[in-house]
Amino acid sequence: MAMQNIKNSPEAIKTEILRLCREYSARVHGANRPATEELPFEAGQTIPYAGRVFEGEEVAAAVGAALDFWLTLGAEGEAFEKELSGVLGVKKSLLVNSGSSANLLAVSALTSRKLGDRRLRPGDEVITCAAGFPTTVAPILQNQAVPVFLDADPATLNARVEQLEEAFVEGRTKAVMMAHTLGNPFDLGAVTAFCQAHNLWLIEDNCDALGTTYQGRLTGTFGDLSTQSFYPPHHITMGEGGAVNIVRDMKFKVLIESFRDWGRDCWCASGHDNTCRKRFGWQLGELPEGYDHKYIYSHLGYNMKPLDLQAAIGRVQLTRLPAFGAARRKNWAALRAGLDALSDYFDFQIATPASDPSWFGFLLMVKPEAGFSRADLSRHLDDKKIGNRALFGGNLVRQPAFADLRKENPAAFRVIGDLAGADRIMNDAVFVGVYPGLSESMIQFTIDTLHGFVKNPP
Ligand SMILES: Cc1ncc(COP(=O)(O)O)c(C=O)c1O
Repeated sequence: MAMQNIKNSPEAIKTEILRLCREYSARVHGANRPATEELPFEAGQTIPYAGRVFEGEEVAAAVGAALDFWLTLGAEGEAFEKELSGVLGVKKSLLVNSGSSANLLAVSALTSRKLGDRRLRPGDEVITCAAGFPTTVAPILQNQAVPVFLDADPATLNARVEQLEEAFVEGRTKAVMMAHTLGNPFDLGAVTAFCQAHNLWLIEDNCDALGTTYQGRLTGTFGDLSTQSFYPPHHITMGEGGAVNIVRDMKFKVLIESFRDWGRDCWCASGHDNTCRKRFGWQLGELPEGYDHKYIYSHLGYNMKPLDLQAAIGRVQLTRLPAFGAARRKNWAALRAGLDALSDYFDFQIATPASDPSWFGFLLMVKPEAGFSRADLSRHLDDKKIGNRALFGGNLVRQPAFADLRKENPAAFRVIGDLAGADRIMNDAVFVGVYPGLSESMIQFTIDTLHGFVKNPP
């Protein structure tokens, strides 16, 4: 009888459920195949450009958190935040529900009155890059500031840093916010020197570059703040999710948490009270003395917390980051070597000097003299079931959201130069996958398909 009780203890039941989860996952998602082991491939099969790569451990972690049923951000979230900040070597990482939210929170934090004269006010300017993903830039406008677009260099896909000084306006420029495009870092040497010289904030959108290094140091550790996305195509996943990294100055912890958690002034962790030891001892705004600090709001905030269940998945994925990064680099190098002979047709992305990118994708920039268009190439890759993508929004100022805004308000944003590089990226760039789920035979099929295509274009 005693034995029976031990067997049926909650812990024993949980262990058995998690064992079954691993077994189920092995059967349904792949027979205990390590996450980075190569899949068998036959021509005609789909080659995704990206996707989640996981084992039974991730499924067991998700189910374990579901059984605990804390639901909102709790112990798993706290542990993941610590592990992520440890891997990056930053002061603090705060989990949020997406990379886009992370970007919105990072810019919102800069608007806090608590930053005094350095705060971002309506009409102030933030320097960014014209080519890339829309939610690197949208938060600048959502916070009533003005994006100033630098052109992008089609060779690196990053901002032309020689335009930084031209973009700068004394008293109005407050920050620089850019992404490390397709995992390739922007010129961090030039950008950090520029920010220091003019006392500007720097936000690195590191969503596509977790594991990339510049001068031997991880990207996401150079700015004041940096952001991650954990949406499935990214380097690691928690389904939906992201993080804001506080690189040096812990005053940002309270600001990011405040904007993330409804705008509250209180910094108690979920489920805790009176961390400040004077919960009823505050007088802020025009509230009466002693008003409950838990319900005092110093910012116009959001609620952008993920679930503990997502954090549990993220923790397992983070342990795979070194292997995932190695697979991305290996796949990129195999594509680069296998396509080298096609340089009459394509320009390939150049790694920023002094960097070691953990690539997000492999770029094919169709040359003007190639004899086929970007659309021809994409259609052919689609026919062969090889996943391919445009470089996100291309030249963002030509997207309807930005073009329509400028028609209504010509001062909504500024543009430096003619953005010819961003236009080239919009017109000629396609990228294919390098993610760890691709096998050598999939990479070889992609190489062979491209060789065949250039010999016989439409
Ligand atoms: C550079 C960059 N920043 C931000 C994001 C947004 O991340 P999320 O999809 O998690 O909102 C993406 C999305 O892929 C991205 O590529």
